[in-house]
Amino acid sequence: MIAVSPSATDSRITGPVQNGPAGSPFDLGDHDRYRRWRDEKLQAAAAFAGAGFISLEDPARLSPQERDSILAACAQSSMAFYEAPALAGEEDATRRAIAGLARGLGLRNFEEHRSATEDGIVPIEVADMGGRAGFIPYSTHAINWHTDGYYSYRSPTRMIRSMILHCVRDAAEGGENGFLDPDIVYIRLRDADPAFIAALMHPHAMTIPSFDDAAGEGHGAVSGPVFVAIDSALSMRFTIRKRNVIWRDDPVLTAAREKLADVLANDPMILRKRLAPNQGIICNNVLHERRAFTDKTDEGTGRLLYRVRSYDRLGTTA
Ligand SMILES: [Fe+2]
Repeated sequence: MIAVSPSATDSRITGPVQNGPAGSPFDLGDHDRYRRWRDEKLQAAAAFAGAGFISLEDPARLSPQERDSILAACAQSSMAFYEAPALAGEEDATRRAIAGLARGLGLRNFEEHRSATEDGIVPIEVADMGGRAGFIPYSTHAINWHTDGYYSYRSPTRMIRSMILHCVRDAAEGGENGFLDPDIVYIRLRDADPAFIAALMHPHAMTIPSFDDAAGEGHGAVSGPVFVAIDSALSMRFTIRKRNVIWRDDPVLTAAREKLADVLANDPMILRKRLAPNQGIICNNVLHERRAFTDKTDEGTGRLLYRVRSYDRLGTTA
């Protein structure tokens, strides 16, 4: 059990009142700053919904313009979509290019993951045998809304804050993703009730009991917040799945989760994309889901994505 010291000033919040940093849009007391940030974000999100894929000549050697376009999209909408047709679906070349892309964008601290090679890349593909078999990411099943690495949290800077997902080969059918910027989710929740934000920023809002991961590595129980704000940057740690997640017993948090589920079911800012070969997303760990898919069956033709996850945030580490 986790001890939580009650020191509420708002009678509806049973625990330490959590707030974003002063001088940031996440300060619940600074309505004007929030309002300005909110309006800019919603405007940027509407514009981004119509944006296409940024074309990259060689992801490992970004031109200044390519790099600026990616970082600007990430600053405004927490994500950028790109395509690099020259990679032509070739596995080794793509691997090197994606590792170079991550470094070119200033990512340095990669997740410790047993399936990751030295370059921090984890292949996401259907695994019928070995340690990954039986885990949803390595199956053809749908994956419900989450941010990556929600099950591990050590500190605000030691959580997964950015991710690249690159499609080497797509499925025979299906496998589309939905994506939603955590900033938009924050806005929906704060506009509904600022107490929702405080409840989701509680340091013990969400606890993942101890478990063994797909690589057979044991993880102790991990407790942490859903929203984490450092300066003017927001990160999110969340899964909508109900199994193996313990939520803090707080009626405001329960109501906040219901609102969040409603946003993830209906929000008009959700982007749906089916990544084609040589396309990918670079993001500050946005919320995402995956639809089920039918895989190609010939050896070496199945759906394959490369994933890189980092503790660094895009645009703040270069
Ligand atoms: Fe994911």
